[in-house]
Amino acid sequence: MLASIKSNKLTYESQKLAMMYFRVALILFGAQLLMGLISAIQFIYPDFLYGIFDFSVARMVHINALVVWMLYAMIGSVYLMLPDETGIETVGIKLGKLAFWVLTAAVAVVVLVYIFIQIGPGKESTIWFINEGREYIEAPRWADIGIVVVVLIFYFNVFATYIKGKKRTGIMTVMVANLMALAGLYLAGMFFTDNISVDQYWWWWVIHLWVEATWEVFVGTLAAYALIQIIDAKREIVEMWLWIEVLMLFASGILGLGHHYFWIGTPEYWWEIGALFSALEPVPLVAMFVHVIYDWGKEQGKKGEEGVIKNGPAMAWITTNAFGNFLGAGIWGFFHTLPQVNIYTHGTQFTAAHGHLAFFGAYATILIGMMYLGIQKAYGLERLKATFNSKMAIVLITLGVLGMTVALTIAGYEQVLVERAELGAGWDAFFVAQALPWMKQAMTWRLIMGVVTFIGFIYLFIDLLTIAKKQQN
Ligand code: HEM
Ligand code: HEM
Ligand SMILES: [Fe+2]
Repeated sequence: MLASIKSNKLTYESQKLAMMYFRVALILFGAQLLMGLISAIQFIYPDFLYGIFDFSVARMVHINALVVWMLYAMIGSVYLMLPDETGIETVGIKLGKLAFWVLTAAVAVVVLVYIFIQIGPGKESTIWFINEGREYIEAPRWADIGIVVVVLIFYFNVFATYIKGKKRTGIMTVMVANLMALAGLYLAGMFFTDNISVDQYWWWWVIHLWVEATWEVFVGTLAAYALIQIIDAKREIVEMWLWIEVLMLFASGILGLGHHYFWIGTPEYWWEIGALFSALEPVPLVAMFVHVIYDWGKEQGKKGEEGVIKNGPAMAWITTNAFGNFLGAGIWGFFHTLPQVNIYTHGTQFTAAHGHLAFFGAYATILIGMMYLGIQKAYGLERLKATFNSKMAIVLITLGVLGMTVALTIAGYEQVLVERAELGAGWDAFFVAQALPWMKQAMTWRLIMGVVTFIGFIYLFIDLLTIAKKQQN
């Protein structure tokens, strides 16, 4: 991975830029996990780093780093596939590289401010320079504006390359249309109102319409592209499913937004709308899952030597993605999406269980797969085989996240029973539930499984740096 950018095997500058994005993504992923570990320790030893690096700060950096590393890996994936899907070098690549450095410098400044300055007074200046206070997208406003400029450059590059390209594939058509929605939604999280309901109302446009609509379609395009690259999947088949997914995900994802409007002071009709449409959301996830397995069995299985998997680790991660997306978003999401259930589960550790498994299953997995695809291209390898490190990485990371999910689900269950159902969800009820052994044991297990995840990450890091070098000639 380190030598991958200089590698003369990459003929397209666009793909070199992709590798630059992947590197930063990987580092931020590591930082995310470290912050997760700090906040998990603080659950068990509340005094840990108290007054120096509080839970609120560690948690904030944990989830912001999560969003940012994923966006980096997503931009990297687009730069990786652009030349393959259009047949030409990316238009405006120099500008694209400049944007990369500007973005990375801005991210570095924002992170340093998060870590060293942490908080500010409740004034406009804090929103501009320290923290905007919107969960997951807390970057201060100056950075917000910078991000918009950088994303506009990125979008221009993608769009111009698509228009100028030698071919216009269905995958790229979906990508170009979807990216416009994805980037545009960011604007909904930028303005400030001091009415908390109004603020939340718009904030959910970014987070929900990202992860349950535009990001899902985005990874659909990645999966389609990757399956073509890795197992020579038939373009007509993957593209047909891609279009069906676009239709279904947008339909259910947009109105499914209602499941965040149950208790924030919006009109009650959201109960019905949210319940119905968000309950439909898992349908496209099932379709996606069946499609991957079906394609594989029907089209590739019979090809023999020719149908060989060209990138073992990427294929393993993309398969994990199909399962993980369905489990984390589909099943764990459906569990608590009906208002009858959500009134008890809202904001418990159950939500955190779903949040972890969904973000991991639907996004982390496939983006790691794309990094392996990038490595293979960077070193010009016909075939990339899984190493011992690749296997340790995927097993430990997946096991770790699943373990954390189970622990958090148990904690959430206890909260629902004791804090919500039995004690009526008051202030004291919260603390009673937090002090019970079920909660404490679950939090210990979450930390243990978090450490397992982190060890898996170290294997991943080493593997990405070394795998291709070892397999050269
Ligand atoms: C990959 C897709 C998804 C991701 C990454 C994701 C992630 C998340 C996260 C992080 C939260 C917590 C938000 C917060 O901080 O308040 C959340 C909440 C929620 N998600 Fe998802 N989700 C996904 C898909 C779904 C689906 C398909 C459903 C329903 C079938 C669903 C149902 C819910 C509900 C009901 C809540 C609110 C929980 C509460 O009231 O506390 N999610 N999701
Ligand atoms: C070393 C492993 C990890 C540990 C120890 C860890 C720990 C934590 C902790 C303690 C919180 C705060 C929960 C709370 O406020 O009650 C949190 C939140 C969160 N983490 Fe992690 N985490 C880890 C890895 C991950 C991974 C791999 C992902 C996704 C790919 C992730 C996504 C999230 C999300 C979305 C939230 C917000 C959940 C919500 O508010 O509902 N974490 N994590
Ligand atoms: Fe949602």
